[in-house]
Amino acid sequence: MENVDWRERWKEESRRMFDSSEAEKAFGNVFDFDTGEALLKLRHRGVIETLYGVLEAGKESKVFLAESPDGDEVLVKIYMTRAGDFREMQNYLKGDRRFSSSPTSRKEVVEEWCRKEYSNLKNAADQVVCPEALGFEDNVLVMEFVGRGGRAYPKLKDVDIENPDRALEVVLDGVKRLWREEQLVHGDLSEYNVLVRDTELVWIDFSQGVHRTHPSARELLERDVENISDFFYRQGASVDPDSRAQRVSEELES
Ligand SMILES: Nc1ncnc2c1ncn2[C@@H]1O[C@H](COP(=O)(O)OP(=O)(O)OP(=O)(O)O)[C@@H](O)[C@H]1O
Ligand SMILES: [Mg+2]
Repeated sequence: MENVDWRERWKEESRRMFDSSEAEKAFGNVFDFDTGEALLKLRHRGVIETLYGVLEAGKESKVFLAESPDGDEVLVKIYMTRAGDFREMQNYLKGDRRFSSSPTSRKEVVEEWCRKEYSNLKNAADQVVCPEALGFEDNVLVMEFVGRGGRAYPKLKDVDIENPDRALEVVLDGVKRLWREEQLVHGDLSEYNVLVRDTELVWIDFSQGVHRTHPSARELLERDVENISDFFYRQGASVDPDSRAQRVSEELES
């Protein structure tokens, strides 16, 4: 792909990248040519074929529904280079020995952030249910779409949980497995970042995940356990969140 003139390509192909002029506009309003180039590269690599509209606009990213060359629905998460708390992002990266290059420009930080979510998803997949990471390029991450017919499955916060004690047990088991087997903390675990697919809990949004050696890893681990225990407690789980968090923390001391 070395000799490709991406700017020329973008002129020729950008229209074909989107299923509608609305989708093209949604992209063009926020992202510049560099991101377009990343999209094109993913298309040439056969990771994505067509982008549909924006599914959700988060603080740091916009999430598009897209189609793979095989016709599968996939999710394209594009990090905005102009948004987000740049310093905070740097702090997460700095302490993580997997990402020691200490990026300085906003663009570099955001690209590391994207690579981090990709590798977190890859590592987490053996321990918890999460979307399969399909590829990334610069600030664009492609993953399995957790939904059907263009609609994402509901977030945990919007679902009635039949057995909150059991569900909490499953999530905490995942937290422990991630820590022990992958040396990984999710870092932003809550009812907003878990989707419910039938009876399965699917963890998403791994961009804040850090390696266990990160100076804030324990603090983030405890916060994850507290947040998720609080949620299930409000849903009727029987064990009080403080003692639960305490117990998990002690178990992971070893
Ligand atoms: N793989 C996926 N399949 C289906 N929907 C997804 C997937 N990943 C993300 N989403 C949807 O897009 C939303 C935003 O994604 P995510 O939480 O990863 O981004 P974010 O930038 O952290 O957003 P925020 O800053 O608001 O938390 C999710 O809440 C979810 O509704
Ligand atoms: Mg989120």
